[in-house]
Amino acid sequence: MRRRQLLMALALGALSAPVLMGQAGSGAPALNDLARGAGRLWGAAVSSAQLDDPNLRRLLLAQVGLIVAENEMKWETLQPQPGVFRFTAADRLLDFAERHGLAMRGHTLVWHRQVPAWLRQLEGRALERAMATHIQTVMGRYRGRLDSWDVVNEPIADDGTGLRSSFWLDQLGETYIARALELAHAADPSARLVINEYGLEGDAPKSARKRQRFLALLRDLRRRGVPLHAVGLQAHLHAHGGGPTTFDQLPAFLQAIADLDLDILITELDVNDRDLAAPVETRDQKVAAVYGAFLEAVLPQPRLKQLVSWGLSDRDTWLNSAFPRADGQPQRPLPFDADLRRKAATGVIEQSLRRSSGTP
Ligand code: G3I
Repeated sequence: MRRRQLLMALALGALSAPVLMGQAGSGAPALNDLARGAGRLWGAAVSSAQLDDPNLRRLLLAQVGLIVAENEMKWETLQPQPGVFRFTAADRLLDFAERHGLAMRGHTLVWHRQVPAWLRQLEGRALERAMATHIQTVMGRYRGRLDSWDVVNEPIADDGTGLRSSFWLDQLGETYIARALELAHAADPSARLVINEYGLEGDAPKSARKRQRFLALLRDLRRRGVPLHAVGLQAHLHAHGGGPTTFDQLPAFLQAIADLDLDILITELDVNDRDLAAPVETRDQKVAAVYGAFLEAVLPQPRLKQLVSWGLSDRDTWLNSAFPRADGQPQRPLPFDADLRRKAATGVIEQSLRRSSGTP
């Protein structure tokens, strides 16, 4: 937290001990300050409910330069019934971002999850019309106000053998991806259009196959002149044995994306420690090591523009519901702990960003 803000917060007696300790004790500049030193932004996913916590708000304002709605800009929230749009929660997050000079990502328009039942049941032309209406209405509302949009989310099959089987692909064919991007560009020509994907980062053979299939999609879209500006790597990483903790193949993949004249965004960074049986201190060290190895692989790539963690504090991680630990302990995947305190990962991220900006 910047010195002026800290002094003001101290004067107001506003900061709780954890945040104060986490911030003041570190003496380190904010993640976003360090990222900016390397020509990037550091961001975090936020839910509108989290904005009700003054301490988390202060940590966000101290640490990030960009936010993304964890769920509030997904189809099930924005258009729960045909033609019925609910923008209140999304508007609250964007108003917060704009009021505090933060950028904001749009996440996400065309995805196979978190969509209402009425959409899944549409067929052919009706589904295409619904896609057009949703993209035009949502992007029209936020035209010129968002830094980028995840227009298509997770289009590649997990085993990398083709495009993901979904109602989008089944009903509209492979062209649904290009169609979504063309509709998005028409709706907001100023928006940076992104295809966002997970499972691309590690050295496992499945990830290598998924990277190759993803590159084939990107090359085809670029060859056809389909509007596309950036690629989102979700980077949901793993500290347990089965997950990718080495990223030796990642730099070449990033360069292949850069060779297509596309920017690269890390969009949902966290480190799953579900299967680490060690005590907290050892878990934290292993999670920090994965952050360090990943950042070492990606930070040298000049087309890397943003790094967004999928939350800022362990308290809010989706991983506790999606990947609960067998010992019932909460996961510790994010840059700050559940009390908003710094962790081993915080220091490693700071050091990696500092090193990439040439700052000693
Ligand atoms: O809104 C309902 C609420 O009404 C209900 O009471 C509650 C309990 O059942 O569920 C609420 O919906 C939850 C929703 O988050 C909103 O909080 C869903 O159960 C829950 O499954 C959903 O999880 C989200 C998950 O996407 C679902 O796909 C996570 O919060 C969110 O972090 C996660 O984010 C995705 C990215 O969008 C795309 N990349 C992968 C990432 C992790 O899955």
